[in-house]
This record gives sequence, structure tokens and C-alpha cells, in this order.
Amino acid sequence: MSAPSSTQGVWLKCHVRELAPWATMTERVLSEIISTVEQMKGAAAAQVLRQHGIERLHEVIDTDDVTSLRNQVLERLRQPLLAMATAVGRQVLGWDGDFYVDDYLILRINFPYEVARKTNPASENPGIGRLSATVREQFQARKVIDPVYAPKDYHRGHPPAAWAHGPHIDSWAGHSRDGRNIWWAIGEVPAEAGMVLYPELANASLPCERRTLYLQAGYRLPVPTYLPLAAGEMLVFDPEVLHGTHLNTTDATRVAISMRLNASRPTFDPACFYSREFWRRAADIEQGHDEVLHLRREDNFGAPVAAAPVQTPAAVPVIAGQLDQANGVIHGQLPAAGPDTQRIIVDAAPYRIMLVRTSDGTRAYDAACPHYGVDLADGGCDSDSDKVYCPACAISFDLQTGKSSCPSLTLQPYDIRQDGAAIRIRVAPPEAVAP
Ligand code: FES
Ligand SMILES: [Fe+2]
Repeated sequence: MSAPSSTQGVWLKCHVRELAPWATMTERVLSEIISTVEQMKGAAAAQVLRQHGIERLHEVIDTDDVTSLRNQVLERLRQPLLAMATAVGRQVLGWDGDFYVDDYLILRINFPYEVARKTNPASENPGIGRLSATVREQFQARKVIDPVYAPKDYHRGHPPAAWAHGPHIDSWAGHSRDGRNIWWAIGEVPAEAGMVLYPELANASLPCERRTLYLQAGYRLPVPTYLPLAAGEMLVFDPEVLHGTHLNTTDATRVAISMRLNASRPTFDPACFYSREFWRRAADIEQGHDEVLHLRREDNFGAPVAAAPVQTPAAVPVIAGQLDQANGVIHGQLPAAGPDTQRIIVDAAPYRIMLVRTSDGTRAYDAACPHYGVDLADGGCDSDSDKVYCPACAISFDLQTGKSSCPSLTLQPYDIRQDGAAIRIRVAPPEAVAP
């Protein structure tokens, strides 16, 4: 195959059409999804998808239907998918010995956020995968409920169908320590619905929040690297590099398949409360042997990693503001030399306001992301494009308008006046202030 595009060994992109003999595998998956929808919803629904694309899936099925769709499609395509993943190991990564292939396959169906956020709270999380039928009972018997892990709190009451992955590395979530992930676009994946990576942090020691298994708050991120994919393109990446998902702010359903390889026998992080224990060997797959190995976590912990101390990047500077409740105004004093960074936080409880220099003057916004309330001071900021990035869902906000690509997610603006170093931020409209 032609040389894939690649960055620092962290990720590469390639196209399935160059993968022998799997060149038409994207079409095969699409056809399987559409024929399953036809059985579930009728010919007219299938016709919408054939005519207008898989991106219209949310118009013909509900999130409640996704579980059955995934079950059926992955059941029928399991063996070819595993064989295709093996071919990625051979042809893209150049692994010529035996290696391991995760039995856990994920068909990711992410409805547009504006649709997904109004769906049934009982619907399934788009990030849940499927194991082979032969090991499901064993998997259930090994299931562990951790008293600390509480993803629902993080997602603030949103139905699971609307969840997007916050920044994480996969071994925090029980995956093997030295895997390579295949993230394959079945339909178009624009940047606003795609994966994001933080390759600048490839070798950084990062703090995990055990409640979410995502990066701890308070760690200031760089600007995320967006990774849009054309239908059929695959991202093959090192999942020990911080990554996440852009909340799907498009009006299209995003469909992708994830698989995982390990060059050597998988090992797990003992700090996580569970592990992905079911694997296959590449040689078995290639020889048609339907065998799943159970690598019990307690027998396969990785050697303790000398935990390098976390070096938290310098935070956005914070100044104290004085809230004049009676007049609905916060007063503050910029540091003598003026803010030497693009942003500064004004802390005046209960307000926490982000001041930002743009190419068109200073703006003031609530520092809490309008989605989950995370602190935008932790997100990357790009002064050339006047954008700040949510540190959780990676969406960008235009600092001149406060708008994002999602109509329901706009920053809360405040009027700001500056007189030398003195600033005055109006937090309540004059008519709301008691006379
Ligand atoms: S927390 Fe999701 S967009 Fe900011
Ligand atoms: Fe991940």
C-alpha cells in the first residue's frame, strides 16, 4: 500500500481501499447496516440511507434501535472485521510476527448532539462495544462495579446517546498498555464529529480523575489536533497519547468502527478497577481458528511504571475581582504590566470570568463551558484564530462572538469596560439591579 500519512509515531491515516483484500469493506459494512435497518424499519427507511447517506441514520431509527443494530451488524461481520484488523497490523504497522487482536469491537453510532440530547435516557452509550458470544458469560462474571467511577455525574444528566469522550488515555479505562487503535470512518467524519489528539503530550505524565477516567481538571491543555476522516479512512493511533472525541455538533450521524491491536501480550494498569481481558491471536484469525483468549487481569498486570511526577502546565493567571452586588458589577485591577497572556481569569464568587484579548479588543465570558460547566481556562486557546477550545469535548468557541458550531452552546458574554488597569464587568443588566 502507499505510504500512510503519519505524525511522530503517534498517529497515521490510511484508507481501507489500499488494504488487501479489504478494499471494499466500508461498502460491506454500509450494506450490512442498511439491510439491518430495512429489516427493522422497512424499505423506505433503507431507501433514505441509500439515497442520502448513512449520515441520515438518526432520521430513520431512534437511539433505542441502536443496540439491536449494533448487535446484528457486529455479529454478522465479526470475523471479517477481526481479519481486517489483522491486515492493518501486517500491512500498515508492518508487524510480521504473531500479535494480539482485541475481541472487543465497537460500532460507534453518534447522533447529532442536538438530536441525541433529547433521546431516551435508557439508550446505550455509543462507546460500548461487543465481545464474541462465546465469552460474554465469562465477561459478565468478571464484571466489577467501582464505587468511585461515576460517569453520569460528569455528563450532567445528558442521555448516554449524547455522551462524548473527554480527554483520556486508554489504559486508564482498563485497556492494554501498549496497544494501537484503529478508528475507521464508515461515513464521513468531519472535524466537528471526529477524534481529537493532543500529540504534544505524548510523553507527559498525566493525572487521571478516577470518577470519570478522564484527565483531571486543572491541567491546561494545548489546542486539540482535529482529525477529520473521509468515509473509508482509518486513523491508527497510540491510545496512550491523550485523546478524546469532539462532541458531534454537526447535523449528521457519525458512524465509525473501533478495533485494537497489541504487538505483544497485553498487560494492564493495576490502578484501573477492570481490564479488557478477551483477545485473539493474529495467527489464529489468519488460520480461521475461532479462539478467544481470556487474559485475566490479575495475571497480566504490567510491570509497575515509575510514575513520573505530573508537571502541571502553568495555569491561566487569576486575579481577584470585587463584586458590587447592588450594582451588578465586578471591579478588578489588571496586573501592573497588563495581562501578558491572552487570557486572564477574574475570580469574584459566584462569578468566574474569562477575559480574553482578541484581534478586535478584550472580551469577557463566563469561564464555565455552557455544556458541562468545565473550566475553559483548562482549554487551549489560539490567538491567531481567536478561538478557545473546551478541554472536555474539544469544541471551539469564537472569542469574538462566543459562538460554537452548536447553536445551543454559546459562551455567556459580559460587558467589560477597561480604563487603564481598572476593569469593570457588568454581570447583571441595570434593570435587574435593585434601585
Ligand atoms: S463540556 Fe462539553 S463542550 Fe464543553
Ligand atoms: Fe480512547
